[in-house]
Amino acid sequence: MQRIPHHIAIIMDGNGRWAKAKGLPRIAGHQRGMDVVKTMTIAASDLGVKVLTLYAFSTENWKRPDNEVQFLMKLPGRFFDTFVPELIENNVRVEVMGYTDQLPVGTQKAVQAAVEQTAKNTGMVLNFALNYGARAEIITGVQQIAEQVLAGQIKPDQITEQTMATHLMTASLGEYGDPELLIRTSGEERVSNFLLWQLAYSEFVFLTKHWPEMDADELKRAILIYQNRHRRFGGLAENKSDKE
Ligand code: FPP
Repeated sequence: MQRIPHHIAIIMDGNGRWAKAKGLPRIAGHQRGMDVVKTMTIAASDLGVKVLTLYAFSTENWKRPDNEVQFLMKLPGRFFDTFVPELIENNVRVEVMGYTDQLPVGTQKAVQAAVEQTAKNTGMVLNFALNYGARAEIITGVQQIAEQVLAGQIKPDQITEQTMATHLMTASLGEYGDPELLIRTSGEERVSNFLLWQLAYSEFVFLTKHWPEMDADELKRAILIYQNRHRRFGGLAENKSDKE
């Protein structure tokens, strides 16, 4: 229980393959994936995680077949319809990051309602990345900073890492903006345009299980792998005997 990462980010991959292996349509994998989001949210909250960021829909996912996109867009509504009371019981606050204004109005409303209903909660933040893409996020941030330079509010040489961080979609997470741990399921070992700035010093843990097969024990296993790694931020090990 020591050294639990404050912020865990997860690329929930393998829903389609899990479904296919069972002879089910891809959307059955997403449906099961949604149930696993519930299990993992409670597990992370119980472990004392401060922020759980889940990559639920990327700016590239619009290229999927229409029926799959439509199903994915309905999932937040279904999820929050049944799960908000449990989120409140567990003191979990919902946040969302991404270009949400491009989502169907019904999806926007469902997410907004959950954000409002859990706004007073002070425990873990369940942060959904919805219509999120890291390159677009960085471009938006750079555009905002450029506007400030143009308006004479700051000089180019006053732009720091902190300036950039406060113009990213994780700015509201404050000191927990950068995940210590990134998990990707289903054996793929890519970042797929997720949190490119924020992952600079994160530990990456790739699990072979598909997202619909994940459970609390798998989460603990990933955290254990993280805890057994050395995190040095480019410097020397905290403990000299660990120095390589
Ligand atoms: C990747 O698997 C998964 C997604 C693109 C969607 C993730 C969504 C969920 C897990 C449910 C989200 C729940 C809420 C509450 C919004 P894939 O389809 O790419 O799998 P594949 O690589 O095996 O095809």
